Amino acid sequence: MCGIVGYIGHREAYPIVLKGLQRLEYRGYDSAGIALFDGSDLKMSKTKGKVADLKARLESEISTDGTVGLGHTRWATHGEPNDVNSHPHYSNSGELVIIHNGIIENYDALKKELKKRGYTFKSDTDTEVLVNLIEDVIKKENVKLGKAVQIALNQTVGAYAIAVFNKSKPDEIVVARLGSPLAIGVGEDEFFVASDASPFIEFTNNAIYLEDGEMAVVRRHKDVRVRKIKDDSLVDPYVQELQLNLEQIEKGGYEHFMLKEIHEQPNAISDTYRGRMLADKGIIRMAGVDDNMERIANAKRIIIVACGTSWHAGLVAEYIFEDIARIPVEVEYASEFRYRNPIISENDVVIAISQSGETADTMAAIKLAKEKGAFAFGVCNVVGSSISRETNAGAYTHAGPEIGVASTKAFTTQITVLTLIALKLGKFKGTISQSDFQFHLQEMERIPEKVKEALKSDNLIQEIAYKYRYAPNCLYLGRGYNFPVALEGALKLKEISYIHAEGYPAAEMKHGPIALIDEQMPVVVIATKKGHYEKVVSNIQEIKSRKGKIIAVVTKGDEEVRELADYVIEVPETIEALTPLLTTIPLQLLSYHIAVMLGKNVDQPRNLAKSVTVE
Ligand code: M6R
Repeated sequence: MCGIVGYIGHREAYPIVLKGLQRLEYRGYDSAGIALFDGSDLKMSKTKGKVADLKARLESEISTDGTVGLGHTRWATHGEPNDVNSHPHYSNSGELVIIHNGIIENYDALKKELKKRGYTFKSDTDTEVLVNLIEDVIKKENVKLGKAVQIALNQTVGAYAIAVFNKSKPDEIVVARLGSPLAIGVGEDEFFVASDASPFIEFTNNAIYLEDGEMAVVRRHKDVRVRKIKDDSLVDPYVQELQLNLEQIEKGGYEHFMLKEIHEQPNAISDTYRGRMLADKGIIRMAGVDDNMERIANAKRIIIVACGTSWHAGLVAEYIFEDIARIPVEVEYASEFRYRNPIISENDVVIAISQSGETADTMAAIKLAKEKGAFAFGVCNVVGSSISRETNAGAYTHAGPEIGVASTKAFTTQITVLTLIALKLGKFKGTISQSDFQFHLQEMERIPEKVKEALKSDNLIQEIAYKYRYAPNCLYLGRGYNFPVALEGALKLKEISYIHAEGYPAAEMKHGPIALIDEQMPVVVIATKKGHYEKVVSNIQEIKSRKGKIIAVVTKGDEEVRELADYVIEVPETIEALTPLLTTIPLQLLSYHIAVMLGKNVDQPRNLAKSVTVE
């Protein structure tokens, strides 16, 4: 939620900060701003709108000189998205400038106090309060910027990743984090600060990821001093070598990141099981599970906490875990779980699923579960993310960076990891036979090729998208393993095309939603051969007799549904537990093409952001 980027060094800061903002725009895109220091003047330009709007405005408004710069791309929390509420924010004296990702919860009380002391505020933001609080500390306590930031942060409640610059001390930027990510890129005589490493990947492979509760003074020509915000103790920073490369964060010839990421799924899935699964030997190795096997396999219950698409992956996992490992599973929206005084015991295992590893509700749910003695296991995509660090153990999905706001390859790789875990547990517990286990592994190995085949329906899906692009509503139906896929298909359509869509278990239709069906209503039905096929065919009959338009996702070669449906999209055959990895693909493409045909911003849908680090 909001992207921050900063540079201090020997190069022109503007192009670095601007490019960095473009790469971080997935984190928020309702306004943007940049501040630059050219050795004597601190200049700023900011605007409601996207980074492209900022570029147009900034270059006609201020000079772009300067070797220090701070930039921000915003997803509004406090104060509507407008020019004034955009970041950066100056302090009252104009000496300090700040960028902030997060929320200062007690900003109102702090603001009242500062007003009494004569401070004035231009914006409605919590961030402007923070920068003035820092200024007030400098004046009152006569301390340097680093110390002032520390004292001020110890008076705040909330979450933040901040970068602050003081024009009277132009050789340093002070950064701090609590609950929002912050990486420092360490170059030759230059430093970068950013919400993730993408803004500086072409300049350096060395990065320091601040831990929660840490701050750093980044000093030009010198070093990075890291401290604990609470007690001022010095921390020896760990400089990590990044595995990220530029290609991974660029569109690679695709029109949108979402389309690129949909097509990356064959590789993302095989990257996720490669090195873990030896199909011919019948082995799965996952350190996070192996090292904690007794604890996880003997769990009285597995509780899965997640949000959005990750929650849908959790629902698929519920079927797999119960089916294969015979462990009872509950799947919870993290935001509900954390606020309803859940009953959790030391015998429970809580699995948090999160692409970003930064989702605030999922993070809070994990903390709560740990406090109550449960074992916390993380399934995250972003290496080193907050949730991956907070959990007792975990397994990464190796999807690579997912930049499109609509989650695609994260979903299928989450299912891949969760399937491997279920199979491992099932084997350990003896709830799956060796031959069945081996068969699952062999079938998993065939999935990337089958995903490639599913992607070949793209032309047909474009035709379907064209036909139904103006439909105001759409229903998605599935049963068993494919019920969560129906939910996921509906979410994809809603979030990028703004068409109202609902996912339902197909059998639930007759308990209400069937009343919605008329000749205008497209109904996407997942009707693969494995899993309640005959029942789903009956559901299709029910829709047809009410004149609904049927778009069916079927197993290759199916003739029965073809007779009934308006459109049929084929996916290759596989075992039931793995069908979600294939049936999801046409639904992703369908929503993508409809959104493109409607002229929507596919990668940055309105009101959304890639990682939701606020409650
Ligand atoms: O990073 P996370 O997986 O924790 O994110 C959870 C949701 O915010 C996310 O899946 C969201 O629903 C996506 N925009 C869906 O495409």
